[in-house]
Order: sequence, then structure tokens, then C-alpha cells
Amino acid sequence: MDAFSQGPEEPSAVENHDGDGREWWRDAVMYQVYVRSFADSNGDGVGDLPGVASRLGYIAGLGVDGIWLNPFYKSPQQDGGYDVADYFEVDPLFGTLADFDALLGRAHALGMRVLVDLVPNHTSSHHEWFRAALESPPGSRERDRYIFRSGRGPGGAEPPNNWQSVFGGPAWSKVSDADPQAAGGVPAQWYLHLFAPGQPDLNWECEEVRLYFDEVLRFWLERGVDGFRIDVAHGMIKHEDLPDLDVPEEATGDPDPSGMSGDGHPYWDRDQVHDIYRRWRKILDSYPGERVFLAEAWVKTPARLARYLRPDELHMAFNFDFLKCDWNASDFTRTITSTLSNLAEVGAAPTWVLSNHDVVRHVTRYGGGPAGLSRARAALLLMLALPGSAFVYQGEELGLPEVTDLPEDVLQDPTFVRTEGRVRGRDGCRVPIPWEPSGPGLGFSTGAPWLPQPASWSELSVSQQSREANSTLALYRRACDLRRNHLRPLLAGPDFSWVDAAQGLLAFKRGDDFSCVVNCSDSPAELPAAATAAGPVVLSSASPASSLLPEPAASGANRLIPANSALWFARMPS
Ligand code: GLC
Repeated sequence: MDAFSQGPEEPSAVENHDGDGREWWRDAVMYQVYVRSFADSNGDGVGDLPGVASRLGYIAGLGVDGIWLNPFYKSPQQDGGYDVADYFEVDPLFGTLADFDALLGRAHALGMRVLVDLVPNHTSSHHEWFRAALESPPGSRERDRYIFRSGRGPGGAEPPNNWQSVFGGPAWSKVSDADPQAAGGVPAQWYLHLFAPGQPDLNWECEEVRLYFDEVLRFWLERGVDGFRIDVAHGMIKHEDLPDLDVPEEATGDPDPSGMSGDGHPYWDRDQVHDIYRRWRKILDSYPGERVFLAEAWVKTPARLARYLRPDELHMAFNFDFLKCDWNASDFTRTITSTLSNLAEVGAAPTWVLSNHDVVRHVTRYGGGPAGLSRARAALLLMLALPGSAFVYQGEELGLPEVTDLPEDVLQDPTFVRTEGRVRGRDGCRVPIPWEPSGPGLGFSTGAPWLPQPASWSELSVSQQSREANSTLALYRRACDLRRNHLRPLLAGPDFSWVDAAQGLLAFKRGDDFSCVVNCSDSPAELPAAATAAGPVVLSSASPASSLLPEPAASGANRLIPANSALWFARMPS
């Protein structure tokens, strides 16, 4: 059998990469592939699975442990594929099931794991269940799979409660007007969609829904996936009375609703959601290999997040508190400390993430321009030096900024339309990857990319950065390689201790032989001696334009770290 012919019958064939018996996901680096914007194989301007497969060598060359694929299932694409019409099929836009199998086999042959997205909170309104529900009367079994209710007020003309869609506007759409002729008179009927109207929420109190998702899990596990990223993992259970919120949540473009959520919130982070994860964990564990669940759960505190990671529930959850930190040492210190302590209580592995397909890219969040890029490069060294696993969003290894000036007529995020243009939405972080410095689609596609790339991105292309020793891409490759192939004995365990450092600095040790110092301030700063004692500098995030280590101002002073940069010190294990 050649390396690429591993088929769906082959369970996850990836071994723990150094055979040391540690669970692979406790210190993995995973690469997020937003399929529609990664690589287009057929010139229609939209990335696809064969495109991803053709570039797997690039991803493996970064030195990551695996990929997470955003949804590629059959879908009318009203929310970038998070509106699934068929959970068992690949959308023709992205390819076929055979293309998926080929991609999976090839990733495994390259030693990479593959996680797929699972979207259980809602289906698409094009799903056969929702079509059947619309054709069936109130109170029917078909309607019970979703959340249909009578409206309020005369004839039920008002939505059943005051909940707002995350994308703006009411979270309810009307499907029928009042029918005064029906026996007893039937008020207008509405259905719940916490997201777009094309994404009706499923009723997770209905056993048929639970059984259905058991099958979805099995289907992909049998094809050989290594696990699932669970979309809106905090949203599936709704309060049975669907009570009004004291203050309805306004769409702000921020996917984090937790600012408004609190104990007893009627739909976010309800306790009963954990029953679903215990059920799923049993299914997952019945398959060979170390397969995992990864939660997208925007919850209020690290302590609430830790509840998803109890030993019989999920393995990992995105650490959005880290992503939300400003470029600020005290913010990072507080978040890292509370993450480590809360997750240790349940024995869970910490995770770290800086960007994804829902948020403004971090080069831009950290101020944009050269300073934003320097900070983003430093943030990588911070993230990869912490205990736990890390998630890299495609394009961050190129230092891509957010595209803030997309013309309005190309915007596709439903948020833009539903907020009547008040919130531009998430398209600016989803612009296709520049592979080459020139040509149509900068090597992404032979056709016109579904979102236009800024002309300035030709300098940021993969091929350009591959030729530059100090490019952001080179830094990512070097950092992942060091972490995985040289420093793993020092970094894989949970060892972590803060080192006292001047204001504006973060410094910590991982055992005696590794330390990381991050300077979040805009001036060079003295390095703490306790950090430099861990060994020589093995990696610096600073580009050569700013001198690597300026000389100390006065003799006898400590060595300096440049502004907005990070350093790794280590005694390399032999
Ligand atoms: C998650 C996804 C986001 C999607 C939403 C609704 O937050 O990451 O892209 O719009 O769920 O499915």
C-alpha cells in the first residue's frame, strides 16, 4: 500500500509522535484550516478538500501535529457551512467523500491528526428534518426536533420571547400566521434560531436528536477522524420555559456572549449540556486510537470551562480568555495563572489560541502595522512556551492582518446584513491565503477568490516568506521545530513557574533549563537574571530590523530584551 492509499476502513493510524506514552493532545500544536480560504483546486474561487490535500506537505512542514477542518458538509452556505443540510455528505463546493478520505489518509501518512467540525446546536433550514417540520402541524413529532412555539400577543404576532440572534435581530422567525379556523384557534408559529434564520436550533430534549448525533459521530469515527471540534458547545440546552432575558443580548460582532451570561442563563452554559458530553465520550472511547473532543465554549469563567473538561467529558476547550487578552503583561499573567489553576483541578490540558475564523486577526488586534506584527510574533513564542496545546489559525504563520476594507458587496457574513451594516462581520479574517507573490488569487486559485486579497499580500505570500530567513513563516517553522523536536523533554510536562520581572514583562520557567521572557512594553527592558540563567537564547521573535539584544545602557546592568518581543532561553537536551 502506498503512503496515500489509507482508506476509511483504517482507524486513526497516527502514533504518539515520539512514542513516549503521553497523550498526544496534551501538548499538540494544531493548525486550523478554513477550507474555503485555504487552497482552491478547481478554479471556482473557493477553497476545497483536494486543495487542502495538495497543501498538506506545507502544513506538515510547519511542524504541527494535526489539523482542524472547518465544516465542509453539504450546506447552502448561509453561515460559511455552519448551516449543515446533510451531516453525512461533503458539499460539492468542497469535493466528495472520496476526496475527504484521500485527505485523511494523506494527513495520517504524514503523521498528522485530523479533527472535523461538529455542528450540533442547529441544522440548516435546508436539512430534511426542518423541511419536514415545516410541512407538519404544530405538536407533531417533526416539529419536536426543533424549538417551535406560539407567538405572544394577539394572534401570536410577536416572537415567543425577547431573545436576540447572535448575528442580530430576533432569535425567532415566524412560519405561519394565526389560524382562527383551526379548532380552538392556533396562534402564529415561530421557530428559534440563536444564529441566522437558516440555522434552526435543534431540541436536545428530543431523544431522536440525541440518537441522530450518535450516528453522526460514528459515521466520521468509522472513516478514521481523530476527533471533533464541537461548535457552540455551550448552547445546546435551553431553559424549558424559554424565559425572557432581563436584558436581551445585542449583536456586537463579538462571538463571546458570556459578558451577558450568568448563572442560570436560559441558553448559554446550562448544566444539562454535560449529560450530552458524557454520552458522547462513551461513544468516542469505544473507538481505537486516542481520539478527542475539542469544545468551542464561550463561558463566563475558567472555572465554568473546566466543567467541560472533567475526565468523562471533553478533552480540550479553546481558551478564549487568552485570545481576548490585550497586548498587556498583566492581562496575560492573570489569564495564564487562572487557566493553569482551574484546569489543573480537573486534570485537563490547558490550551492556547490567538486567532480563528470568528475574530479579528491578532496582528490587527495588537495594534496593526510593524508593532502589531512584532507583538504577534512574540505572542507565538509565549503561546508555544506554555504548558498545554496550541492552535494556529491559517495565515497567522504569514503574519496576515485583518482585511478591514473589503467592499460591502463582497461581504458574506450574515452578521453584516442582520445588523443592517452596523457590524461588518468576520469576513476580514477569512480572506484566502496568498501562496505566491503574483498571479490570479496569489496562487490560491486560478479564478477570482471568493473574497479579494489585498495587493500588499503578495509580499506576505508563502513562497516569498519561504525565501526569507527572518520571515514570520520562518519563525513559526523554527518555533514549532524547536518545541517538537528539541525542547519537548523540557516543555511537554506541566512544570511552570513565574519569574519576577519588571513591569510590562512576563517571564516564566519550565523547569530549570527553559525560560521564556516576553516584553509587552514599547521600550527595551532589562531581562530578569533568573530567566537568563536557564541557558543561552535559542529563539527570538524580534525581526532583524530591531537589534536582537541591545547592549545594556550602563555597565553592570542586566541584558536587555527589545520592545514587543519574546525570547526563549534553554539548555538544549542532548
Ligand atoms: C461558531 C462558529 C461560527 C458560527 C457559529 C454558528 O461560533 O465558529 O463561525 O457562525 O458557531 O454556528
